[in-house]
Amino acid sequence: MIQQNFSTRFVNCVMRWATNRYLCLQQSALNLLPPPNPNKNYLLYIHVPFCATLCTYCSFNRFLFQEEKARHYFLNLREEMRRVKDLGYDFKAIYVGGGTTSILPDELCKTLDLAKSLFNVQEVSCESDPNHLQKETLEQFKGRIDRLSVGVQSFDDGILRKIGRYEKFGSGEEVRKKLEKAIGILPILNVDLIFNFPNQTREMLARDLEIVRALAPNQLTTYPLMSSPSVKSLLKRSIGEVDLQNEARLYAQILESLADDFVPLSSWAFSHRGSEIFDEYVVDNDEYVGIGSGSFSFLDGVLYVNTFSLKTYAQRIQSGKMGVARERKYSKKAQLQYRLMVELFGGEASIERFQTRYGADLKKDLFKEIAFLRLSGNIIKKGNAYYPTNKGKYLFLSMMKEFYIGMDRVREESRAMLNAEDM
Ligand SMILES: C[S@@+](CC[C@H](N)C(=O)[O-])C[C@H]1O[C@@H](n2cnc3c(N)ncnc32)[C@H](O)[C@@H]1O
Ligand code: SF4
Repeated sequence: MIQQNFSTRFVNCVMRWATNRYLCLQQSALNLLPPPNPNKNYLLYIHVPFCATLCTYCSFNRFLFQEEKARHYFLNLREEMRRVKDLGYDFKAIYVGGGTTSILPDELCKTLDLAKSLFNVQEVSCESDPNHLQKETLEQFKGRIDRLSVGVQSFDDGILRKIGRYEKFGSGEEVRKKLEKAIGILPILNVDLIFNFPNQTREMLARDLEIVRALAPNQLTTYPLMSSPSVKSLLKRSIGEVDLQNEARLYAQILESLADDFVPLSSWAFSHRGSEIFDEYVVDNDEYVGIGSGSFSFLDGVLYVNTFSLKTYAQRIQSGKMGVARERKYSKKAQLQYRLMVELFGGEASIERFQTRYGADLKKDLFKEIAFLRLSGNIIKKGNAYYPTNKGKYLFLSMMKEFYIGMDRVREESRAMLNAEDM
């Protein structure tokens, strides 16, 4: 049964402790990221940190949109991309995240065209919002973007009003109509929903899921509401307090109501039956290069974080450097623990894959972790791999949520140090 119980609470406390400890970063003296290992595959992450207005619950790295600043930013982004090419990197997959990545569609297209001319790109995934789903915009994206992920969050007008999205993107019904027209233009359209808004009931979620099932997008992502410290106090004032028991109940409802139409790609991502499978990028790409202000790179056991200041970012790029500002190296054990969480979040931890990819013996090197997860009923072993039970799916969802909240804390701390000229 899915509920907040001893193992979820215990693991979440451990995660909070671990993210506090492991996401404590040092200044980096690097001008450029290290070169690639020719035997590895990497993902390229591109960050576009601009939004027309800022939603209260969001702690991603984003600034209020100003056209001139944004156009300069895109120029620097393309410059940083050329620097990555000069280091010798190649990428099959690109993920463009925001902010609102499609805020200047012409700049986004130029950036993707450059990426395709520099690297052997096969898949491009991009985040967007309901205001950028016009036919002409999507036609421009054809052949450039394979997967477009649209932030909907909820179709409930009450929730949309409270989180400041009703005025910005229209009512739930208007968003539904925009999606209806958009589905089918690009190869994959993903809808993002958030569940467990304060005071969200089972009935409200049931309506959201019903609408999505009728729309039948290729993919659906259902994020639990993540409240980093500053988001928590903002939400408390605007909607109310987050209830974790409700999170567990609503998650069980999601799994049950999607079972007929969708197959899980991870604890929170689902692919519509019959749609082409597009990998969960968090699970399948263990090493990535991030370009743009505030983006993260993970290379050979080291996490690098780019500067959050738009001014410093521009200065670094203009002086021949990359955006990297801070870093942290992780022990082999910490990396294996992280990969175990990510792979179980993705639905399977294969003993063979741990051996070939990380040179690790899962049963020996992570003996205590595996024993705890098995004894607490969160995973089962079948053949040569471990799989999460339904209870485990919730555990790995909440662990991933804690990890994201940890990343949000890094963003918040970094952004708190910025002054007006940095934005
Ligand atoms: C970085 S946003 C970009 C999407 C786009 N700008 C929009 O708002 O429509 C990507 C997704 O992250 C999710 N997200 C943002 N803040 C969140 C939070 N506090 N808790 C859970 N999910 C969140 C939302 O589902 C959002 O669609
Ligand atoms: S949710 Fe999307 S539109 Fe809202 S502030 Fe975050 S990135 Fe911007």
